[in-house]
Amino acid sequence: MAPSAAATAFLCFTFWTLLISPAVSLTCSGQKFTKNQVFSSCLDLPSLSSYLHFSYDSSNTTLSVAFIASPSKPDGWVAWAINPKATGMVGSQALVAYKNSTTGLAVVRTFDVSSYSSIVPKNLSFEVWDKTAESRNDGSLAIFAKIKIPADLASGGEINQVWQIGPGVGADGMLVKHEFAAANLQSKGTLDLKNGHSSGSYGGYTRIKNKNIHGILNAVSWGILFPLGAMIARYIRAFESADPAWFYLHIFCQISGYAIGVAGWGTGLKLGSQSSGITYSGHRNIGISLFVLATVQISALFLRPKKEHKYRFYWNIYHHGFGYAILVLGILNVFKGFNILRSDYKWKSAYINTIIALGAISLLLEAVTWVVVLKRRSEKSKKPYDGYNNGQRIQ
Ligand SMILES: *[C@@H]1O[C@H](CO)[C@@H](O)[C@H](O)[C@H]1NC(C)=O
Ligand SMILES: *[C@@H]1O[C@H](CO)[C@@H](O)[C@H](O)[C@H]1NC(C)=O
Ligand SMILES: *[C@@H]1O[C@H](CO)[C@@H](O)[C@H](O)[C@H]1NC(C)=O
Repeated sequence: MAPSAAATAFLCFTFWTLLISPAVSLTCSGQKFTKNQVFSSCLDLPSLSSYLHFSYDSSNTTLSVAFIASPSKPDGWVAWAINPKATGMVGSQALVAYKNSTTGLAVVRTFDVSSYSSIVPKNLSFEVWDKTAESRNDGSLAIFAKIKIPADLASGGEINQVWQIGPGVGADGMLVKHEFAAANLQSKGTLDLKNGHSSGSYGGYTRIKNKNIHGILNAVSWGILFPLGAMIARYIRAFESADPAWFYLHIFCQISGYAIGVAGWGTGLKLGSQSSGITYSGHRNIGISLFVLATVQISALFLRPKKEHKYRFYWNIYHHGFGYAILVLGILNVFKGFNILRSDYKWKSAYINTIIALGAISLLLEAVTWVVVLKRRSEKSKKPYDGYNNGQRIQ
């Protein structure tokens, strides 16, 4: 096999393995709210299977949250709190939700946790509005609230959060004590208001991260793997020794590119459905066209006429036409995506460098291929290499 074929195969494999990890699904991302509330970030909190969705407006220090957890017993409570003074439970300003046993409706109450023994219903030490609770189909409860973060807390950029779940609520509205298992004692941490991060081993997830996953998947598949596969088909097969290896490499690159591209396409559709206000129609339409073209390409593999068949000529024209269209549209859409993301310049420049490198390698291989083919032609005096029908292919 030609060394360049080995190198491209290696690249192809590397990209493929690099991509398995970000494709793993993250739990809070799939949670939806009945009133279609949208938050910019969400976190899988590290204990008690709890989730926090939030948006923070730093211009007026307003934090909008949705906290989701399941009570430890069906008639129990869930709580999310900010502790303005310390890191644990004592001193926290809590929002608590439970289902009222008489009405069956989920309600939110506020509690001041001045000590372990004194948990009293009380207005919070800061302004809270739009407090609502919702009982969800899976038995969990959601607490929604908007909170004015006091200036001294907001200036730090981080707040201490505490959450908890409990087994029941008394008729007087007093909370039945929660368990003291490890998970109940570890349910605290800091919340980074600006970046959506949290301390501890939070399985964090934000819309920004979602966009980055979408960007990486698509840049690698449409922007790198497809061009790489096309290069393999065009250049590596000129080396007789690389036959039929080039063909399997080509198929491998394109099919893995397609698989990753479809995953990236799916994340794109999801992002599109989440941002109801804004539509990037150009980017979206090119994305949809790419998906259609690539799906036709992959399907047409199975309808490929035999090499000697008279329709094979037309099939080749179609295959190359679609292939080059995917190449151009794919790279174009990656750049459109960079503009939408307004990502760090380093990512865009890394991609530009990759494309320049692929382009330079192509130019070099184009020259090498011509030399090889012209030499072969003068030896065998066969048909000239036209990149399409040089008679050397197993296709
Ligand atoms: C802060 O701004 C947001 C919109 O940017 C608005 O929804 C919210 O009501 C504002 N909060 C306050 C306390 O003015
Ligand atoms: C608590 O807040 C509500 C409205 O937000 C107010 O009507 C009520 O008087 C407050 N109670 C106390 C004890 O401050
Ligand atoms: C449940 O709702 C009823 C009727 O509104 C009310 O009287 C009662 O105090 C509520 N119970 C609790 C625990 O909130």
